[in-house]
Amino acid sequence: MVGGWVKPVQALLFIAMIAFGGVYFVTDSLPAFYAMAVIAVIFGWMWIAPIGGGDMPVVVSLLNSFSGWAAAGIGFTLGNSMLIIAGSLVGSSGAILSYIMCKAMNRSLLNVLFGGMGTGAVAAGADDGAPKNYKAGSAEDAGFLMANASSVVIVPGYGMAQGRAQNAVKELYELLKEEGVNVRFAIHPVAGRMPGHMNVLLAEADVPYDDILEMDEINSDFASTDVVLVIGANDVVNPSAKDDPTSPIFGMPILEVTKAQTVMVIKRSMNTGYAGLDNSLFYMDKTMMIFGDAKKMVEEMVRSINGAGH
Ligand code: TAP
Repeated sequence: MVGGWVKPVQALLFIAMIAFGGVYFVTDSLPAFYAMAVIAVIFGWMWIAPIGGGDMPVVVSLLNSFSGWAAAGIGFTLGNSMLIIAGSLVGSSGAILSYIMCKAMNRSLLNVLFGGMGTGAVAAGADDGAPKNYKAGSAEDAGFLMANASSVVIVPGYGMAQGRAQNAVKELYELLKEEGVNVRFAIHPVAGRMPGHMNVLLAEADVPYDDILEMDEINSDFASTDVVLVIGANDVVNPSAKDDPTSPIFGMPILEVTKAQTVMVIKRSMNTGYAGLDNSLFYMDKTMMIFGDAKKMVEEMVRSINGAGH
């Protein structure tokens, strides 16, 4: 799919699609209509299929928005106000969501829509496939480290939601507070699978709002943080977004956890996150991987801190 021919072919298809549409509009010619429809399918596939990585949710939400505007348009032609209202609601909410996600990833909508071709191939080539070393530790080690730290930042991600770990996380938070540790949460705007996903889960678990900080508020504090506990987050802490211009997520602001003294990551395996990218954070000297389900691992950390009689 990669190559200089792609964009000119797309442009030609687009012009042909509009031309056949025009012919159908003027002459009611059915062959022109079918030609327009077939070209539209090919054009749509060529345009959308190569968009990958963190851009995918933006495209899904944008297409959702388009479907709303299309419904509103049909509402106008049929004189159906219900269709106009419902279509406008879907169209505008999808557009607002796409805008929020683009802003959170520091990408322009045009860049998301037209920068897709070729990015996947570059990303695949970025990993040389050589085995890399990482350190694995236990929940007990992690509990000990956190209970003896003076500041801990917890970074929740999709894995916390998937593992329904929020209540166990709240328990860990309270326990560490009782130990006199300064514990806060760092929330990335696109952590999880919908805007505000992590905020909703932490609110459900009754974590005080004052200790939940947005990315811009907490990023400057990582350098003075002893321990960062990443719970089921991956893309939102991937340093390649900052360091690797060939990465599909390059330019997306991240939680800069690598600045902390020690980073501990709870996840079940070395599998990639939503964007399908390897994460160099996991192979750093300061990083300790804690393999297991988020809820189970956090509960074990709580038990180990309690058991240590701190
Ligand atoms: P991801 O990058 O998707 O990483 C989540 C990690 O959680 C995975 O690597 C997975 O690793 C781990 N995990 C899954 N279930 C787990 C469990 N039960 N226990 C422990 N770990 C578990 O998540 P993120 O860092 O939150 O980033 C969000 C991604 O989703 C971004 O790429 C973003 O663009 C995209 N996205 C966001 C939204 C919005 S608006 N929030 C919408 C759609 C998509 P293992 O499999 O090894 O456990």
